[in-house]
Amino acid sequence: MKIHQEAIDAIENFSMPDNVGFGKVMLPIMAQATYKDGQWSQVEVIPYQKLELDPTCKVLHYGQEIFEGMKAYNFKGNGPNLFRPEENLKRFNKSAVRMAMPEISEELFMGAVEEVTWLGRNFVPKRSGESLYLRPFMIASECNLGIKPSEEFIFLVLASPVGSYFSGASIKVLIERDMIRASSGGMGAAKTGGNYAGSLLAAIETKKLGFDQTLWLSAEDKESIEEMSGMNFFSVINGELHTPAISDTILDGITRRSLIDLAKSEGIKVSEYKLGITELLEKIKSGECSECFACGTAAILTPIASLHDKSGESYPLKQEHGPVAKMLRDNLLGIQELSIEDKFSWTKLLKK
Ligand SMILES: Cc1ncc(COP(=O)(O)O)c(C=O)c1O
Repeated sequence: MKIHQEAIDAIENFSMPDNVGFGKVMLPIMAQATYKDGQWSQVEVIPYQKLELDPTCKVLHYGQEIFEGMKAYNFKGNGPNLFRPEENLKRFNKSAVRMAMPEISEELFMGAVEEVTWLGRNFVPKRSGESLYLRPFMIASECNLGIKPSEEFIFLVLASPVGSYFSGASIKVLIERDMIRASSGGMGAAKTGGNYAGSLLAAIETKKLGFDQTLWLSAEDKESIEEMSGMNFFSVINGELHTPAISDTILDGITRRSLIDLAKSEGIKVSEYKLGITELLEKIKSGECSECFACGTAAILTPIASLHDKSGESYPLKQEHGPVAKMLRDNLLGIQELSIEDKFSWTKLLKK
């Protein structure tokens, strides 16, 4: 690892605006490593800067790219601490394999993430719900137009001080019955740009119709619920937690897994299976399904107020801010912010 003096100077001269929003303010440093001739270089921490890419660079044409989203917390100055960073590394390498990209060692990934966090520790916001959002990513950087896997790559880690992703208000969700996000054998379980690009047209339509998020159904039966474009999906039916089982068409969310473990530890039964939209809507109507919510690193846990069909039908939830969602959110955020005992050993406190 090489930390350039210019990066240290840049962070020392940085001043953070009071209102950071989400993903708009970037720390003035980044970590970078390059892959060539079958080997990764050492990680260098350099000032945040533009990338110089040849216009034939493969990521620009064939989308060979993967990323992660993770957070460092410093609630009341008790951090900085990361939340289950090794899970992000595992998923990053799974995405790499699916996208024909080289895996990365723990030393390189964690070294880059931890060093950027440590150097930026004075800019990890300290209020509840705020954090330093970390964005490790890898792009194919070989230059030529051949449709072949790249043999050169750049790995980077960026960091952005962030406030809450959603205002805390519940969201309205549109059921997408025409377009699909992923199909079996495809790349839906990889965290790769193409999955997000493919969801944007639906996002435009969702917004145009007055809703906040798109709910994707399975390509196979246009019936089984999969996930949202950037979050996993849960419902509470007769007091039990239900969520679609992970498959190769769903991103295996770390928040999702953590909420399942938390719920079980609170004595709540959790079912992971093929959850049908028809059955869910009936249960919302009958009141058996009392809460639905979405979860992910950025938003943590966001309650769903109502589900909607393009035909105009609405399915309001009995409890917009239900007790199960609240209990799970409070517990998860409490562990992340080190204000509740972490009996799962999920948090990693950084020290030097
Ligand atoms: C498509 C998709 N599903 C689910 C999630 C939630 O995953 P995690 O909880 O690991 O952030 C994300 C966000 O990263 C996502 O982009």
